[in-house]
Amino acid sequence: MLISEDEIQRRIDELAQEISTDLRDKDPVIIGVLKGAFVFVADFCRRLDFPNTIDFIRVSSYPNSVVTSGEVKLELDLAHSVANRHLLLLEDIIDTGLTLQYLKASLGVRNPASLRVCSLLHKPDNNVKLSTIDYIGFSIPNKFVVGYGLDYRGYYRNLPYIAQIEEVQ
Ligand code: IMP
Repeated sequence: MLISEDEIQRRIDELAQEISTDLRDKDPVIIGVLKGAFVFVADFCRRLDFPNTIDFIRVSSYPNSVVTSGEVKLELDLAHSVANRHLLLLEDIIDTGLTLQYLKASLGVRNPASLRVCSLLHKPDNNVKLSTIDYIGFSIPNKFVVGYGLDYRGYYRNLPYIAQIEEVQ
């Protein structure tokens, strides 16, 4: 186990407080990146006590693998227009930054009022510019992790904590 259920929940309390200060009066759209962020979105949004809407986008970059394929595919788009809205993108993990780069470009052209990014996990070894991520839950070693929404071949998403698994080629 890398990060316990308690640690995750405490950190989400802090993130929700910080983000509430920034977005309280902005009627934001929370955009969850499927599938990995679904647990994070569910826990995070229930800590907000101001008006917001929630939408999802699904992209894939690692079909059945622990290493990036170098390609991001849009599998499911947002249900609604986000023009002139303040957006909060919720990611489960930022690894190479490729998915984030793709999502920022894809959302940026839809003329949102603003776009903020919050990732529960971040692997700093991969040198993604920190300025591109507004809020980070935890920085973790460059290892493959599962649990709390994150999967390996579709499994382990249900674990309430984050665990590291051995890389299998
Ligand atoms: P990136 O494009 O390399 O930043 O990868 C982002 C996506 O890859 C995440 O949204 C996850 O779906 C997946 N991913 C990256 N690292 C891990 C990991 O350690 N465990 C599970 N999924 C991961």
